[in-house]
Amino acid sequence: MDFYFAPLEGITGYIYRNAFHDFFDCGICKYFLPFIAVNQNGLNKRRELEDLSEEHNRGMRAVPQLLGNKGKEMAGYIRRLSQMGYGEVNINIGCPYQTVVSKKKGAGLLADTDYLSRFLEEVFEDAPIAVSIKTRIGMESAEEFEEILKVYNQYPVAELIVHPRVREDFYKNNPDLLAFSHAVKAGRAPICYNGDIFTRKDYQTFTKAFPETDRIMLGRGLLANPGLLTEIFGQELKTEAEKKEKLKAFHDRIYRDYGKALYGEKNLLFKMKELWNYMQFLFAEREKYIKKIRKANRAAEYESTVESLFYNCHMIPEAGFIAE
Ligand SMILES: Cc1cc2nc3c(=O)[nH]c(=O)nc-3n(C[C@H](O)[C@H](O)[C@H](O)COP(=O)(O)O)c2cc1C
Repeated sequence: MDFYFAPLEGITGYIYRNAFHDFFDCGICKYFLPFIAVNQNGLNKRRELEDLSEEHNRGMRAVPQLLGNKGKEMAGYIRRLSQMGYGEVNINIGCPYQTVVSKKKGAGLLADTDYLSRFLEEVFEDAPIAVSIKTRIGMESAEEFEEILKVYNQYPVAELIVHPRVREDFYKNNPDLLAFSHAVKAGRAPICYNGDIFTRKDYQTFTKAFPETDRIMLGRGLLANPGLLTEIFGQELKTEAEKKEKLKAFHDRIYRDYGKALYGEKNLLFKMKELWNYMQFLFAEREKYIKKIRKANRAAEYESTVESLFYNCHMIPEAGFIAE
């Protein structure tokens, strides 16, 4: 099985990726970078170039992701990424947020398969590197997926990563495994599964149902439990003390590196709080500490609360992300 780390905008930037790679990576084949919005000005934002730079992606296979709806503009970005040394790029055809969808970008592209096809025609024309797609299965209904897949099948898609939810689902409801099985049967490109693999058990249930699927993308499951892959491989640390020590060191590394890269305590704490939306699920009886972390205005307050959480709360074995 090939494991991919999902792109998670605002979280899996280079600071998180490098920390994860150093502490928990036991076989991530590809790290997908959070999306870069394509526009007429080209690839020149400092934040984006920093995330793409070689020094920030050492030792890992990073795949940039592009979000846009103008094929020619996107083709320009792909040429630039190729010149920078990238061998693969991914297109986001799944982002569900209104500001994106209303501009016919992300999942918004799924609403008009004729437009989608013209867009892909321009993207794939003379693309110098492999182009993969990350998609949802429709805007409103899984019935749309058959037509959408027919469009993808017309292009040399390097791989098709399917998150089998429709846009209307956002992250609610369950992934539609029937729609995913349609992709497996009728898709021309190699098919990668993405969605709601949060525990070793979820992984085992999925692989039993889809023994032919040889690539899986993990997102929130890894954010919530960075040791998920070690658990899947049966290589997890045995004692709670060891697990806590490793997780705390991972946390401290991210905290230190954000502290260096971001301006001011407020921005630093905002980033860390976002991470705790996921990592909280590893701890039993965490509520009062998580509340305090969310309320913390000063770094010292945050740091002492995190210390107390690690000291006082037990870690839940095989814990996974819990959707609200
Ligand atoms: C905070 C957040 C940010 C995300 N950012 C992106 C993104 O930049 N590009 C993308 O294709 N998907 C993005 N996604 C979707 C994830 O990559 C993934 O498809 C989704 O979380 C389902 O997989 P999971 O159940 O393993 O988390 C994001 C999801 C979340 C929760």
